[in-house]
Amino acid sequence: MPRTFPKNCPFQIGNTPLTRFVIRMNGLEHEIDLKEERYNEFGSVKDRVAWYVLNNSAKPGEPVESVIDASSGNYGYALSRIGERLGISVSVVSSPSISEFNAAGIRGAGARLIIAEARDGESANAARMRVAGEIATTEGSLFLDQYRSLLNPASHQEWTATELFSEGEFNACFVAASSGGTARGFADFLAANPHPTELVLVDPYGSRSFEDPGAGDLPKLFIPGYGSGRASSFSNVSPKPSVRRVSETDVLAAFGLFEQLGLPGIGLSSIGVVLGALDWLAEATEPQRVVCVCADGDDRYRDEFESRYLPKIEPHELQTAIARLKPVLSDLQTFTPLSDQVSVAQ
Ligand SMILES: Cc1ncc(COP(=O)(O)O)c(C=O)c1O
Repeated sequence: MPRTFPKNCPFQIGNTPLTRFVIRMNGLEHEIDLKEERYNEFGSVKDRVAWYVLNNSAKPGEPVESVIDASSGNYGYALSRIGERLGISVSVVSSPSISEFNAAGIRGAGARLIIAEARDGESANAARMRVAGEIATTEGSLFLDQYRSLLNPASHQEWTATELFSEGEFNACFVAASSGGTARGFADFLAANPHPTELVLVDPYGSRSFEDPGAGDLPKLFIPGYGSGRASSFSNVSPKPSVRRVSETDVLAAFGLFEQLGLPGIGLSSIGVVLGALDWLAEATEPQRVVCVCADGDDRYRDEFESRYLPKIEPHELQTAIARLKPVLSDLQTFTPLSDQVSVAQ
């Protein structure tokens, strides 16, 4: 039975925790906080986007029977689970790089998963948008079009960023450039609500999300949701956020280290974001407080880590990266509020 949308979000989405760390670098002590979006009900920051886009695309009083959209995985997973609960039929068009976790979750929620193969010269992202649009036209389902709809960045401007900046001031905020929804939403939030915060986008080498990666032999991207072969529809923003590149090799090296060192179980793009922040902090000349938006959790990558991700890189490059990153990550210490420090000292 098709149904209309409840006005307020009926799911446990939002109010995700901020996990705080301190780190000493070059004689300075910095605070680095992780906004852990894996604690949303369907496990990622894309829960917010899926709910917001769906809720605002529906015309008031008009039932929605079926929707379709393109996704690298997390958004499709969230949309499928939301559709299952609301009685809406969902189709997700993804790419061969979708994780097993997300593919199984989409199918398990009773949604249809279509894998779009890219044509010569076409990015994976553009291929899934093309196929989703074609199917929507043929079948008459509602195409949510998250990669072009301004509702995507608006969900972050109104929700994720508003929630995050209620936690106080940050000198810098790091997000994955990815397909640009979070990046644009945070840029719009900061333009509308001036804060003394630099927005920094983290992207792998070879990604063209917000900035042309240059000519030459570009590495082939293989981590879902980290980087994009297509320029983001949302990249036309002023002032232009800076882009910091962190290699996929470093991300994979740090993934194992996070587990070894008992650091939070965040996903691969989030690890890239944290490494970008640490790199930025290494150049700081005064103590800083920074925040990293961590899109999802390690549960989406763990099962395929050895079979799918590790074989993409040279073992000696991995070992070199581990040796370089281990001392840095080992210095991350859990933040202890001053009040607790006093009571311990007493
Ligand atoms: C792993 C991961 N990180 C980050 C993002 C950020 O997405 P967006 O391009 O919407 O900001 C996504 C989106 O799908 C993702 O799957």
